[in-house]
Amino acid sequence: MNKLTTPQTLTEHDFSKGAAFAMDAYVPADQASVSVMDWGFNKSDVTYDVVHVWDGAFFRLDQHLSRFERSMAGLRMKIPYDRDEIREILTTCVRLSGLRRAYVAMLTTRGVPLPGMPRKPSLMTNRFYAYAIPWIDVISPEVQERGAHLIIAKTERIPPESVDPTIKNYHWGDMIGALFEVEDAGADNAVLLDRDGFVTEGPGFNVFMVRDGKVCSPDRGALEGITRQTVFDLCDALAIPFETRPITSDDLHAADEIFTSTTAGGIMPAARIDGTILSNDRPGPVSVRLKETYWQWHREGRDATKIDYG
Ligand SMILES: Cc1ncc(COP(=O)(O)O)c(C=O)c1O
Repeated sequence: MNKLTTPQTLTEHDFSKGAAFAMDAYVPADQASVSVMDWGFNKSDVTYDVVHVWDGAFFRLDQHLSRFERSMAGLRMKIPYDRDEIREILTTCVRLSGLRRAYVAMLTTRGVPLPGMPRKPSLMTNRFYAYAIPWIDVISPEVQERGAHLIIAKTERIPPESVDPTIKNYHWGDMIGALFEVEDAGADNAVLLDRDGFVTEGPGFNVFMVRDGKVCSPDRGALEGITRQTVFDLCDALAIPFETRPITSDDLHAADEIFTSTTAGGIMPAARIDGTILSNDRPGPVSVRLKETYWQWHREGRDATKIDYG
């Protein structure tokens, strides 16, 4: 039993649908809530990270924790837990849920202003939350299998000068607009361009194209995804050339293959972009090779932090 796990929490609740850590207590995930007065809720003044658990082990946990710490520092947020304690809280959420495959989120909100407090974010006490819930695929396994039908959204990505996309955030107005475009077009998902017409990312994933055997990903306007880095590591391991560079919508239309990447789904091949058919309307060979090796690395226990379920 650790200091962040009280005996009562283990017996009082049913955690089988997920477990959360909220206001310093463990509760079932569907009972965890954030105050309506928390700036994390009413001003999107929040950062977060998501790591996955696959077959009872976190994948690349330390990379996610490092990014989360960088995101908090970027927003001048501080929490009373150090890295080991965050790791312990996340592990406890997973252990309580018993989930072997899970989506595990950690987030820090600005907090709730005290009555009469001047509007100075620096004075506020930040709040930390975490939860583990059953695995989520941002693009369903069936769609991944046949290759996603993507569109290039008309909605532009929020400029990085306004909201830094390398700090993982909930400023999703542009992404939600793009998801409505997806529904209207009968497609599966979207890629957003910046105001200069360069590809950035999509709702919850990074974007890649393959042209003449080379993997390319945007060098701007996107989260530095942990899965994106894993793609680069896979390319290194498989001797596939790769680069980051500006990518236009014309580049995407002329690509041999397109795929996307995220913690909540892995490497997810596309088969169409704006109705243009890629790789015979199926996931392309480079995308499939990267995807298969990604899951092979999981089976081999690479970069895994095993969870002791007790
Ligand atoms: C906007 C955005 N881009 C990219 C990603 C992929 O990042 P990662 O591979 O670290 O999950 C995410 C993940 O949620 C995201 O929200």
